[in-house]
Amino acid sequence: MIHQYHFKTHGPEETNQLAQSLAAQLEPGDILAMSGNLASGKTTFTQGLTTFFEIKEYALSPTFTYINEYHGAHQDIIHIDAYRLNSGEELISMGIWEYFDSGAIVIIEWADIVAGAIPEDAFGLSFRVIEGEENGREILIHSPRALELNL
Ligand SMILES: Nc1ncnc2c1ncn2[C@@H]1O[C@H](COP(=O)(O)OP(=O)(O)OP(=O)(O)O)[C@@H](O)[C@H]1O
Ligand SMILES: [Mg+2]
Repeated sequence: MIHQYHFKTHGPEETNQLAQSLAAQLEPGDILAMSGNLASGKTTFTQGLTTFFEIKEYALSPTFTYINEYHGAHQDIIHIDAYRLNSGEELISMGIWEYFDSGAIVIIEWADIVAGAIPEDAFGLSFRVIEGEENGREILIHSPRALELNL
């Protein structure tokens, strides 16, 4: 069963706060499939997750490297940007399954491009810039289990 949660954030700090609220309920091996246009907040959300897991490096869009690995004190994070990939098969050929099986939390930006490689029980996060509101973002979270999210 899919649980759906719908939020509107009014600035990057709120998106960060929402991400930390989700982070507190994540488990090793969870996969977060993010979709949404440029500057819709995917990396900002990722930074909230890495902050929660006490990762000291600053998460940047891994657009030129495809995959960044972050080692937290208690939880590793894999951050993938699929923007320049063409298909799920390409991600599989890069060894994505090893990451899925590693116990790391795997975050994938532009997940719709590589949808064929993403397991069905992944979280789906979609981000949307709200027209006419520079700092307004709509964030829809599809979760395989019930969550208590606070903003
Ligand atoms: N409510 C908000 N939530 C998140 N970011 C916001 C918000 N309002 C304004 N911003 C700004 O929008 C930008 C979001 O950029 P971010 O890198 O997170 O987007 P992205 O979805 O990862 O884009 P890309 O696809 O280019 O990687 C940042 O400059 C951030 O400061
Ligand atoms: Mg990004």
